[in-house]
Amino acid sequence: MKTVEVAASTKSYSVHIAAGLLAENGERLRALAPAALKAALITDDNVDALYADKLIGSLEAAGFETVKYVLPHGEESKNGLSYLSILSFLAENGLSRSDILLALGGGMVGDIAAFSAATYLRGIKYVQLPTSLLAMVDSSVGGKTAIDLPAGKNLAGAFCQPEMVLCDTDTLNSLPEDIFRDGCAEVLKYGILGDRELFEHLKEKGLDFDRAYVIYSSVAMKRDYVCADEFDKGVRRKLNLGHTVGHAVEKLSNFSLSHGKSVAIGTAIIARAAAKAGYCSPECAEEIVSALEKLGLPRETELDIEALMPVMLSDKKREGSVVNVIVPLSVGHCEIVPMKAAELKEFVSKGL
Ligand code: GLY
Repeated sequence: MKTVEVAASTKSYSVHIAAGLLAENGERLRALAPAALKAALITDDNVDALYADKLIGSLEAAGFETVKYVLPHGEESKNGLSYLSILSFLAENGLSRSDILLALGGGMVGDIAAFSAATYLRGIKYVQLPTSLLAMVDSSVGGKTAIDLPAGKNLAGAFCQPEMVLCDTDTLNSLPEDIFRDGCAEVLKYGILGDRELFEHLKEKGLDFDRAYVIYSSVAMKRDYVCADEFDKGVRRKLNLGHTVGHAVEKLSNFSLSHGKSVAIGTAIIARAAAKAGYCSPECAEEIVSALEKLGLPRETELDIEALMPVMLSDKKREGSVVNVIVPLSVGHCEIVPMKAAELKEFVSKGL
């Protein structure tokens, strides 16, 4: 088993990565919540059918009374009504502050379950059990919890770190290849941000990469950013590499294009723009674009700069009139470049 220790300012916890963890988690969770009578499992219908029984068996063997709330799969479930319904479910089942909430699933489940745990009774313990590559390497680690509002994604939420993260890599075997690919855009991001070896490995192996090594390296890097800047006011923003343009592409597709593929397009555009604007060499941009290609990810959009600009400028991460763009200087080294609207327009146009 590989373990990454996260020492955030509000909480320290372990991220365990191994095959076959789900069936042996009961004892680990018991150690985290010795006085708990109940465990509330939040999941979606797809994941429920595949993995809930395995986890519940292990929880019951460890003496937990388990209650389960199943959301319909898909981002549409990450809304205010589902959130209130989860809170009511927890209350109706008498969950107390000594009990524990478990988020079993991808990013949607992780975000809404964690936000429920962060706010129910002003906060109860929760554990992330991510079952998608994207959730393992990004959303389950770092304590960002959220639901979507009609006006946009992740507009209501709280920072609240989990008690533990348990990545059972066996769950990736049931992921459709297309969804697995979505997570690849995020792992490549870590390579570009600060790990040349990880980047080389992905560039060479494509989708056939060493999962334990790649997940461990990605989580270790995310840990470093989260520990340096838990509340996302400084260097943690580098994790948004490819996201300024990516979010705009995703939104303008009405979310028919997945997050991972949108981020891949955003990363390619920023890499090409960085080379043309002299931040990095043309070879660096070519390397990034060809690694995305090797992973089977898209690198172009038909959208023009006039369509992209208003959406990029409405990004919730802008500061006043300034958007912080993460720009590669080389593979393994990126910088935050604050840009005003006119600079952003000129820069992104170069990468389209
Ligand atoms: N997903 C980016 C972050 O956790 O900061």
